[in-house]
Amino acid sequence: MKKTMKTLLVVSLALMMMFSFTACSNDETTQNPENGDQEVLTMATNAYFPPYEYYDGENIVGIDAEIAAKIAEKLGMQLEIVDIEFDSIVTGVATGKYDMGMAGMTITEDRLENVNFTDSYATGYQVVIVPEGSDITSPDDLYAEGASQVVGVQLATTGDIYASEDFGADRVQQYNSGNDAVEALKAGKVDCVIIDNEPAKYYVEANEGLTILPTEFVVEDYSICVAKENTELLEKINTALNELIEDGTVQEIIDKYIAAE
Ligand code: ARG
Repeated sequence: MKKTMKTLLVVSLALMMMFSFTACSNDETTQNPENGDQEVLTMATNAYFPPYEYYDGENIVGIDAEIAAKIAEKLGMQLEIVDIEFDSIVTGVATGKYDMGMAGMTITEDRLENVNFTDSYATGYQVVIVPEGSDITSPDDLYAEGASQVVGVQLATTGDIYASEDFGADRVQQYNSGNDAVEALKAGKVDCVIIDNEPAKYYVEANEGLTILPTEFVVEDYSICVAKENTELLEKINTALNELIEDGTVQEIIDKYIAAE
């Protein structure tokens, strides 16, 4: 009994020390950026969005991960990628929990109210995935008089925003990831999925019996978001990004993941 108490005490003391150490080192990194040690650049993403970010084993890889690594290198910082719900990225960045958000994220008016965006580094467009042989043969069919098809989307993405605005909440099913939306499509729970073109290609390749409608929906610019107050970091990231665009690095990374059509 006594021994257990002692052990407990030792363990809790050790724990307390560990915590205070972590607290100290955290303070140091946030308050003393120029202390010689590499400062950490945290990137919030949602890693179910190939080829921009996805898991290869335990590692998050993809276009965004590689561009971010190059940016961090230029800033002399150490990149740390945090995988969270897509829906939480803008808030997490706006509140300073993460330094930047990079997630194949489209610049939108609404998001601009909460965060700043760098220049764009890639273009995407929304497409419609349907089961082969679907009655839906063009996005126009979704707008037809009396149309009632249900659209699957990833929560809070532009696909969700457009679909909810255009078709009404009753015709939209929101999922936590594009993958979940595609699973729902395969299970017949939704009639189509609206999602960005490159992930759409991945999903169609990985799942038999699905196809992408030839007409694209909306063209978008992908960019990195940073908290409004953090203009210094925004500028640094933007400068690094533009250098990487100008010297061809960004295109090289994109070409590595996206085969030319
Ligand atoms: N481009 C779309 C948007 O900004 C979808 C992005 C989803 N990204 C992700 N990593 N899950 O809303």
